[in-house]
Amino acid sequence: MDETLDKYDLQYGEFGDDASPSSKRKPGKAYKNVMVRELEDAVVKNALQTTYTPSRFEEEWLLAALGGFYQDNFITDVLAKVKGGKEANVYCCLAHGVIGTELLAAKVYRPRQQRNLRNDKMYREGRPTLKSDGTAVKGSDGRLIRAMNKKTTFGKEVQHTSWLMYEYTTLATLHEAGASVPKPYAVNDNTILMGYMGSQTAGAPTLHEIDLSEDESLPLFQEVMRNIVLMLQRDMIHGDLSAYNILYWEGEITLIDFPQVTNSRNNENAQMILERDITRVCEYFASQGVAYDPQEIMESLWYRHEANDWIRCEWLPDAPLQEDEFTI
Ligand SMILES: Nc1ncnc2c1ncn2[C@@H]1O[C@H](COP(=O)(O)OP(=O)(O)OP(=O)(O)O)[C@@H](O)[C@H]1O
Ligand SMILES: [Mg+2]
Repeated sequence: MDETLDKYDLQYGEFGDDASPSSKRKPGKAYKNVMVRELEDAVVKNALQTTYTPSRFEEEWLLAALGGFYQDNFITDVLAKVKGGKEANVYCCLAHGVIGTELLAAKVYRPRQQRNLRNDKMYREGRPTLKSDGTAVKGSDGRLIRAMNKKTTFGKEVQHTSWLMYEYTTLATLHEAGASVPKPYAVNDNTILMGYMGSQTAGAPTLHEIDLSEDESLPLFQEVMRNIVLMLQRDMIHGDLSAYNILYWEGEITLIDFPQVTNSRNNENAQMILERDITRVCEYFASQGVAYDPQEIMESLWYRHEANDWIRCEWLPDAPLQEDEFTI
């Protein structure tokens, strides 16, 4: 702390007349705000000691992403990096006692320069851009719209925020609706904190990494279908659903990775995107002995979606199917 204060003593005077020690006046508000913010950051960074040892390049970024969650009593430690994905790294964190669960997953999006964002144009069609408070950008937000159209650095950040907020708000909606998705706990500029599947030593495998036992393939296929229906009833399509984005833990599945969630009514590619999701799911389950025709499922679900009639749908969340009732 003393060192930190020394640093500020040394920096005193870098903020112009308003803040200069040679000035007879007290430091200005702007200077004080910056100083308070930086001191808070420094305290957080000093306080969040992680069991996981980040690489030199990862450290600052990780602490910036997670320091606020530490300060707000969501997490007390970072135990391990679970996976480094194309867009984000996922870390296993120890939850604070007040959270009521032992572990949390932190999905930290990579720094902009190192991000390999999916081509998101196709998914963005028909969905508004979301701001960091989860509300949609309106026509009156001229500055944001201009920045996005011109693809300025700020405009790209706005798009990035929207991408992340779609993941967070979708998790919130679906979790509330009873879907098999991680419970979202908190979000900031670059990170989503959510329920963690796995143990302290290993994250849950994705379906593509494992073979299911004979008696669990069909119920788990039905469970994936129940989630697809649940989304479609809310005009949502996952958009990147496959055995790579479904976790398996203690006999249950969890759908993850939602930033590209697609609006089923406003996106002109919706049918193609849904059919691709269903096909990939069917491909995996066919390899596990549960063979259904993805096109038949697609036609059946799309018909119900168009008619907005789910009354006789076998995968309604309120009416889990018995195995012998399972028909398309
Ligand atoms: N809630 C969670 N609990 C445990 N592990 C998780 C959780 N969320 C994600 N993971 C792990 O992190 C990996 C990457 O997560 P996710 O798919 O959301 O990010 P991504 O950057 O889009 O990755 P990819 O490019 O590999 O699809 C997952 O494959 C999974 O192994
Ligand atoms: Mg993924």
